[in-house]
Amino acid sequence: MRELLDILPPGSREYELARTLDPERLPAHVGIIMDGNGRWARRRSLPRVAGHRAGVEPVRMAVETCARLGIPSLTLYAFSAENWKRPRTEVETLWRLLHYYLGREVARLMQNNIRLRAIGRIHALPAEVRRQLEDAVRATSGNTGLILNLAINYSGRAEIVDAVNAIIEEARRSGTLGSLVLDEEQISSRLATSGQPDVDLLIRTSGEMRISNFLLWQIAYAELYVTPTLWPDFDRVALLEAMAAFQKRDRRFGGIHPAGNAPVEQSSLIGARGLPAQ
Ligand code: FPP
Repeated sequence: MRELLDILPPGSREYELARTLDPERLPAHVGIIMDGNGRWARRRSLPRVAGHRAGVEPVRMAVETCARLGIPSLTLYAFSAENWKRPRTEVETLWRLLHYYLGREVARLMQNNIRLRAIGRIHALPAEVRRQLEDAVRATSGNTGLILNLAINYSGRAEIVDAVNAIIEEARRSGTLGSLVLDEEQISSRLATSGQPDVDLLIRTSGEMRISNFLLWQIAYAELYVTPTLWPDFDRVALLEAMAAFQKRDRRFGGIHPAGNAPVEQSSLIGARGLPAQ
């Protein structure tokens, strides 16, 4: 938290927002569906790709802010498995932007002790992008601060299918397939985010109320935060507002709130003759 306050102008809205955050109750994993680049461009009569270009700066801001807040994991949805349906020129622009981002940012990731991971079916990316991504992942693999997962050619369903297939394959190899019984821990440990906490806060920009096949397993108990702000306009104030909203949520994980709501004894739910009490 101190590290973030150090770079914010005292008295600014972002400084005040950061100061009100409780450092003990920050999300352990933030997921962001970066949406609205096309609409941002259309509103300015610009080509869609101008919106993607303008979306690079909020990526840098979100990474830096989460790192300085001491958040363990951040996952950004950069390219879904369904995004291949977009015009070829748009897809190529997205690869060029990723190339530009990695080229400029790896040194900064190193300086800030950030570990980059790529999640998604990376093998299907253009060879040059894949190589650059793998190099960046390798170069930052010893860093111990924020884990930045870039979801690229990513599908939450495909990730779960891949995890289950990996378990089946291991069981086949070890001759235990016949007695295989899956549990949640086995699946979690084969996901691309293995070893990282589940998502606590899922942010979606541009107002759409959809999950879009993002981190389906990991968001089981995430708090959802949808803002009408389009991704290129998503600045540090917007991110800190999302964190502040997260800290106001009453998270029960299927239970009840501990304060003022003592666990209900099973017997008190049952009336004298075994009927529910009124
Ligand atoms: C969704 O907006 C955004 C994307 C599919 C791409 C996200 C890419 C960036 C933010 C560029 C930089 C990324 C990195 C990691 C360097 P949309 O095009 O679906 O917007 P629309 O719904 O308004 O059309």
